[in-house]
Amino acid sequence: MKGIVLAGGNGTRLRPLTGALSKQILPVYDKPMIYYPLSVLMLAGIRDILLISSKDHSDSFRTLLGDGSQLGLNIEYAEQDEPRGIAEALLIGADFIDGDQVALVLGDNIFHGPRFSLLLEDAVRDLDGAALFGYRVRDPQRYGIGEIDEEGRLLSLEEKPRHPRSNLAVTGLYLYDNDVIEIARNLRPSARGELEITDVNLAYLAQGRAQLTPLGRGFAWLDMGTHDSLLQAAQYVQLVEQRQGEFIACVEELALNCGFITPEQCLHLGEQMRGTDYGAYVTEVASRRIPRPAVRAA
Ligand code: DAU
Repeated sequence: MKGIVLAGGNGTRLRPLTGALSKQILPVYDKPMIYYPLSVLMLAGIRDILLISSKDHSDSFRTLLGDGSQLGLNIEYAEQDEPRGIAEALLIGADFIDGDQVALVLGDNIFHGPRFSLLLEDAVRDLDGAALFGYRVRDPQRYGIGEIDEEGRLLSLEEKPRHPRSNLAVTGLYLYDNDVIEIARNLRPSARGELEITDVNLAYLAQGRAQLTPLGRGFAWLDMGTHDSLLQAAQYVQLVEQRQGEFIACVEELALNCGFITPEQCLHLGEQMRGTDYGAYVTEVASRRIPRPAVRAA
C-alpha cells in the first residue's frame, strides 16, 4: 500500500501564523504537525509516501524530511498549486499510486489511541473498496458525517450537513483500493468548487464497498484548523508525554519499532538532537535495543 499526506491549503484560519510557514510545519508541542499524520502511515506499515504541499512550502518539507531514508522511508514530493479539494490528491498522486492500494491522510490530523496499529493492520488486510474511520463529535456540521446501523453497516455520508443524521464524523484517514483513481477522475467540483473526498466515499458507498469503523471513546482524534484547536492539540500531546513518558508520533521510535531502521541508526538520529527531551527520548528507546557487552566477574 502507498501513502499520501496532503499538506496543502492556505491555512487562512491560522493567519498570521501561516503568513510565511505552512500550517503543517507549525509546531504541535515538541514536533512539526506533519509528524502526526506521517506516523499514522508508518503505523500502517507504509514506507512509500508522497507528500503533497503547496508550491511555496515544498522546500521546507524537503529540508525537514529529505528523501525519508533516515527513517527507512521513501518520501516523494508533489505540489498542489491551489486547494481544489482533498480528492485532488488522488489525481496528483495517480502515477505514484500506480496499481497499488492507497492510504490518504490529512496533514492536520492527529490520531492517538489504544490498539490503533492493530486496527490499521486489520483495515489494510481486509480492505475491499474504502475503509473510513469515524469519531463522535459535538459539532457534526463541521465535518463529513457518516450514519451507521446497529450492525455497523454504513447507510449514508454527507459533507458538512446542515441537519446531520448522526454525530459520527469521517476522520481524515482514508484507505482505498486502486479503483479510487478512476473514481477520482470522474469527479466534478462541488458547489464550493472543490473535488470532495466525500464524493469519492459516496461512489464506494453506492457500490456497497465502503466501511466506516468508529474509533472508540478512549481514542483522541484532533484536527488543527484554528488557533484554539492548535493549542489544544499541543496541550494534549504535552500532557500525555509528560504523564506517561511515552511520546506521541515520535517518527524515529516508530521507524525502529516497525523494523524500518536499526537501533544503531535510531541512536544516531537521537544523538543529532542531543540537548532536547525529544532527542533524549529517541536515544533512550534506541539504547534499550542495543545489547550491552556482558560484564565479566573479576
Ligand atoms: O478533518 C476531517 C474532515 O476533513 C472531514 O470530516 C471532511 O469530510 C473533509 O472534507 C475535511 O473537512 P475540512 O473542512 O477539515 O477540510 P479542509 O478544507 O480544512 O482541509 C483539511 C486539510 O487538507 C487542511 O489541512 C488543508 C488540506 N487541504 C485541503 C484542501 C481542500 C489541502 O491540502 N488541499 C486542498 O485542496
